[in-house]
Amino acid sequence: MKCTRCKQKAVVALPSHNAGFCASCFLLYFQNQMEKAIKKQKMFSPRHKILVALSGGKDSLALALQLKLLGYNLECLHLDLDISDTSKQVKTIAQRFCERFELKLHIIELKKENLSIPEVKKKLSRPICSACGQIKRYYFNYFAKQNNFDVLATGHTLDDEVSRLFANTLRWDITYLQQQSPILEQDQEFVRKVKPLYRLTEFETAVFCFLHNIQYSTIPCPYSKGASFTFYKRLLDELEYNQPGRKFNFYETFLKQKSQLFPPSTSKNKINFCSICGYPTLQDICGVCRIKKMLSKTS
Ligand code: AMP
Ligand code: FES
Ligand code: ZN
Repeated sequence: MKCTRCKQKAVVALPSHNAGFCASCFLLYFQNQMEKAIKKQKMFSPRHKILVALSGGKDSLALALQLKLLGYNLECLHLDLDISDTSKQVKTIAQRFCERFELKLHIIELKKENLSIPEVKKKLSRPICSACGQIKRYYFNYFAKQNNFDVLATGHTLDDEVSRLFANTLRWDITYLQQQSPILEQDQEFVRKVKPLYRLTEFETAVFCFLHNIQYSTIPCPYSKGASFTFYKRLLDELEYNQPGRKFNFYETFLKQKSQLFPPSTSKNKINFCSICGYPTLQDICGVCRIKKMLSKTS
């Protein structure tokens, strides 16, 4: 197979784009897709201060490096979840990556915040993944606000966005469908959140990391077994295999038609501020302070 762009020998086939690329044309394709996402959705410009949530997985590592190569002003934040050896390994990966590419890395250790994820799992009756997601969002926003970042960027890819869209559609969850977007505007006390990889797949971030010789974590979260998201991703991969381009088309068409099909709700919920930590919440005490309180009662 020849590279679609330069006609040299191709090393990566991308059936969804009916294309194949040599290494350097693939990296150019990757950069173009990300630049397109940033411009199309008006995510940020070089004058903005960007905080990249760096998990140590291939997606957020690829995101941080590509942003750096494009000359954006970024720093990284890693949350140490304190999950056995997994957390130690991903933290080391994030540290080595940031040293190699001269990126500033901030680390928040959830153990020091009395929110070690295994402890939360032991004591909480609801699924740990939803509590963990809530804790992550809290610290991403809190840290970004405290340190004057304009934008928070996460490594969510097309695969993440499509499986979320699929899950929301299966439930016909209108509120979530209204809200789903690669950009969530800054709203009162919340920092603007963006997903610059929404046009790229996990396969493509893996190729990007391989070509840049970046080591990344492949260990799945030990609590993710049996999660419906993982199952939807497998289903959608099969669909994509049989009908290349289907994922991208499903998501792009949703974005184009979203405002007509699911117009944003006009009623705004009244935001309070948590009486313990000051974080914006719909209740008196925010979700994370409620988890902390519950943990201190049962310890
Ligand atoms: P996930 O929900 O694990 O697929 O992660 C989605 C995105 O959230 C990643 O690409 C990262 O940008 C961010 N993220 C997840 N876990 C962490 C973490 N422990 N520290 C920093 N960022 C994270
Ligand atoms: Fe948080 Fe798995 S429960 S990453
Ligand atoms: Zn609070």
